[in-house]
Parts: sequence; structure tokens; C-alpha cells
Amino acid sequence: MAFDPLLLFGLILVGIAVIAYFVFASFAYGAGYQPTPRSSVLTMLRLAEVGPQDTLYDLGAGTGAIVFRAARIYRARVVGVEVEPIRVAILRLRRRSGPFADRITIRWGNLFDLDFREATVVTAFLWPGAMARLRPKLEAELPAGARVVSHCHKIEGWTPEVYDPETDVYFYRRPRAPPATGGT
Ligand SMILES: C[S@@+](CC[C@H](N)C(=O)[O-])C[C@H]1O[C@@H](n2cnc3c(N)ncnc32)[C@H](O)[C@@H]1O
Repeated sequence: MAFDPLLLFGLILVGIAVIAYFVFASFAYGAGYQPTPRSSVLTMLRLAEVGPQDTLYDLGAGTGAIVFRAARIYRARVVGVEVEPIRVAILRLRRRSGPFADRITIRWGNLFDLDFREATVVTAFLWPGAMARLRPKLEAELPAGARVVSHCHKIEGWTPEVYDPETDVYFYRRPRAPPATGGT
């Protein structure tokens, strides 16, 4: 069979372009693609004490490293928001073919346009700039007592309740409102 080196070169270039697109296209929105390692996901979910009563928002859901484990292992209701359409298609396919579709919502869009008021747990693995932009939104919208777990990057200005250096996970809890003082 005749072998065309130009065709091979073209295919390699296309392959590199597709991979580069997949990893880097979302950079400007807040992070490229890099799945959270399994051990870090498990630490995040354990520290946040995720359970069936929780609504967990995964901000930048990627291909679902956090989303599907939170629904499968901890039976949480999960909302995964993702900006990159190929990953959204993968997430929707995984959701449809898995047993916990009724507990999982996949949103295609920018996480900064999402309203966080329903979330009891927020998970994120975003770049530091995005975490900084996220902070005022978390402060304004998250209910008191909500838990926030971040892999790799801390939230500047917040003090983590726990930092696990082994899995590089920061755990925060939004302050509860002080008890109302009954004035006379
Ligand atoms: C480092 S990956 C983490 C993926 C996933 N959370 C995980 O743990 O495997 C960050 C993801 O956030 C997505 N992302 C970045 N900025 C975003 C934004 N503003 N809105 C929605 N998704 C965003 C990227 O497309 C990417 O899939």
C-alpha cells in the first residue's frame, strides 16, 4: 500500500490541534482541562462530608471526575457546569448511560453566570485568577454553612478549615449567621 508522508504529517497536525483545543480552549474562562486526581476527589468529598441531602456544584466539571463520584458514592444531587462543548457532550453521555441520571444536572455555560444559592457544597479546580473572581460571588450567594473545596488553588483572603498537603485540597466552610439577639 502506498504511504503518503504528507497525509501522515497532516493527520499528526490535526491530532495535535484537537488535543490543544481540548486542553487549552477554556483557558480564558478560568482553567484548562486537567482532571482532578482520584485521591484528591475522594479527599474533597470526604472533607465536605457530602451526603444525599447535599446539592453539590462542580464549577468546571471537565469530564466528570467529581460529578459522577459525588452522585455514585455519596448519592448527592450534583450540578456540573462546563463551558467547553466537547466535555459537555461527554458529561451528558456519561450521565445518560449511568445509573444516577436523576441526581445529576449538566449545564453548558460559564460558571460565573450560574446562581449558587442552591448549593450546599461547591467543588472547584480552577486557576488562581478564576478563584479570585469567584470569591465575591461565593460570598454573596452561598448559603451560611455551605462547604467549599478547592483542589490545587486556595481562595485568597479565606482561611481554610483544613488543608490536606498530600492531595492538595483546601476545605472551607461559609460562616453561619450569628444567632439573633432578642432585643426588648
Ligand atoms: C482543571 S479542569 C477540572 C475538571 C473537573 N472539575 C475535574 O475535577 O476533573 C477545569 C475545567 O473547568 C472548565 N472551565 C474553566 N473555566 C470555566 C468557566 N468559566 N465556566 C465553566 N467551566 C469552566 C474547563 O473547561 C475545565 O474542564
